[in-house]
Amino acid sequence: MCGIVGYVGNEACANILLDGLARLEYRGYDSAGTAIMESGKTGILRAEGKLLNLRKRVDEAKPAGTVGIGHTRWATHGRPSEVNAHPHKYGRVTVVHNGIIENHAELRAELESNGHEFASETDTEIVAHLIDDELRGGKESEDAFRAALKRVRGAYALCVLVDGLDDTIYAARHDAPLILGLSDEANYVASDIPAILSRTRDMVFLEEHDMAVVRRDKVVVKDLEGNEVERETKKILWDAMMAEKGGHKHFMLKEIHEQPRAVTDTIGDRLSPKDADAYIDGFEADPGKIRKLVMVACGTSWHSALVGKFLIEQLARIPVEVDLGSEYRYRDPIVGDSDLILAVSQSGETADTLAALREGRRKGARVLSIVNVVGSTIARESDGVLYTHAGPEIGVASTKAFTTQLVAMVLLGIHLGRRTGTLDHEQAHELITDLMRIPEQMVEVLDHSATINVIARRYATARDFLYLGRGINYPIALEGALKLKEISYIHAEGYPAGEMKHGPIALIDEHMPVVVITPRGSGYEKIVSNLSEVRAREGKVIAIASRGDPDIHDVVDDVIQIPDVRPELQPLLTVLPLQILAYRIADIRGTDVDQPRNLAKSVTVE
Ligand code: G6P
Repeated sequence: MCGIVGYVGNEACANILLDGLARLEYRGYDSAGTAIMESGKTGILRAEGKLLNLRKRVDEAKPAGTVGIGHTRWATHGRPSEVNAHPHKYGRVTVVHNGIIENHAELRAELESNGHEFASETDTEIVAHLIDDELRGGKESEDAFRAALKRVRGAYALCVLVDGLDDTIYAARHDAPLILGLSDEANYVASDIPAILSRTRDMVFLEEHDMAVVRRDKVVVKDLEGNEVERETKKILWDAMMAEKGGHKHFMLKEIHEQPRAVTDTIGDRLSPKDADAYIDGFEADPGKIRKLVMVACGTSWHSALVGKFLIEQLARIPVEVDLGSEYRYRDPIVGDSDLILAVSQSGETADTLAALREGRRKGARVLSIVNVVGSTIARESDGVLYTHAGPEIGVASTKAFTTQLVAMVLLGIHLGRRTGTLDHEQAHELITDLMRIPEQMVEVLDHSATINVIARRYATARDFLYLGRGINYPIALEGALKLKEISYIHAEGYPAGEMKHGPIALIDEHMPVVVITPRGSGYEKIVSNLSEVRAREGKVIAIASRGDPDIHDVVDDVIQIPDVRPELQPLLTVLPLQILAYRIADIRGTDVDQPRNLAKSVTVE
């Protein structure tokens, strides 16, 4: 959940590290630090709070070294403070770490009984002590690093510098992502692609239990026994510019507006209107043999899985179970070799989703995933991957990753439905034709957001919000509420509209804005009755409705219109006003939209 970057080259690396960390801040941003080698010794600079604070210290100190590591933190062990910020140094060894060392308490007790004194409360610091101990015992630094790795249990991505070695970073990963970037002038280590994408496109994705010796002119990957292992170098095609704000005030706003382009890229050349079919590379499953599909995900990705259940059951008539990664892994699920696990994840690194996937696989299921980040752990551990091609998503609150996941679900529904025979040529052709119009309809919604700005100003001081939807739009109510609470810190709940009378109705009074997703389609009349129940209690109703609905204005306070589309595709449009509403309210309240408090984009701890 923290971000790591490392550089070995010939340029002064302080700004390279800071620029890399700026692109990793989405992983955590409660403190940050760098360690830069100068005259054979690392100099450490750290600061509590945002990266800006560290940048000031670096600007003052002006370190000139050409080898360094940096870290941005999301606290797990030890509160956010300068002392607990990484890097941690002991003796000759400096360490940055992402993950959790599970046996840190017992190792710490053992080291303390041997006279070691600890400066921080972190689990990370013990790694520096362990390596230094091995060095004092006479081991070469690479062997000392490996020996320490063998003693720690838990999750780690680590980068280590050893005083005296001014052209080497040692790196290792287990259950936390770490990549290497290669170029003629320098080599890099990073938690994620955007951190180093402006410097190189040639990347190596370390695998579980890999360690790497990264030097200026050479990178070697080894296993924990010290044997060299071959890892393929992949060329990353994302443009570094895609990780810039491009004139928008926030990444989130930029990403909201990128959605028409992003969903076009997800569709890519996967649709054939002529054959009325969707082709999914690398996914070969005989749908006739799938007993059930089990979707596992967290956060926003879980909401797209809930929409996916609706779509795949409708289009392919295959039963779909949806579970949260954190729940699935611990409930001894009934799953076997005739089931297919579908892991849904933007980052491809979410620890709970990964663990759920592994649990399904352990019980014999095949695994397919819908993932955005190419080469991520979930992608690599799947039998087939449907990449969403949304491009880098930097804003912590997910937007374009969500809508591209929804498109992936439609593609999968068409693909499976054509093979189970539940979707005939004509039906599939119509659905494909409508799906291909979605990007332009998204532009239409995004271009007409003035009403949303007015509504945002009116309700920016509300304490609570309720979001209601039915059927395929119920998960969109959940997503709308999640977006608002994540970035504006207003309490918000999503509910199936029919369930309102069983509890949330008690909350409704004249102070409670209720956002209702009510496009035309089945359930419309019922939801309109639910609205009357809200209005009878003086609640304020904001409706997301189909353009041309003549009656809705009579029963609500505000209407946000979207193009009239078939129910299967509605979530792709109904979610857009909710993203913008959350964004505008947060911006009015002056919260940190791209890096909301306490959150992180990629949660690689349990
Ligand atoms: C975090 C993020 C959410 C995201 C969730 C799942 O909580 O803040 O925006 O939806 O993780 O992430 P994933 O990368 O698996 O989609």
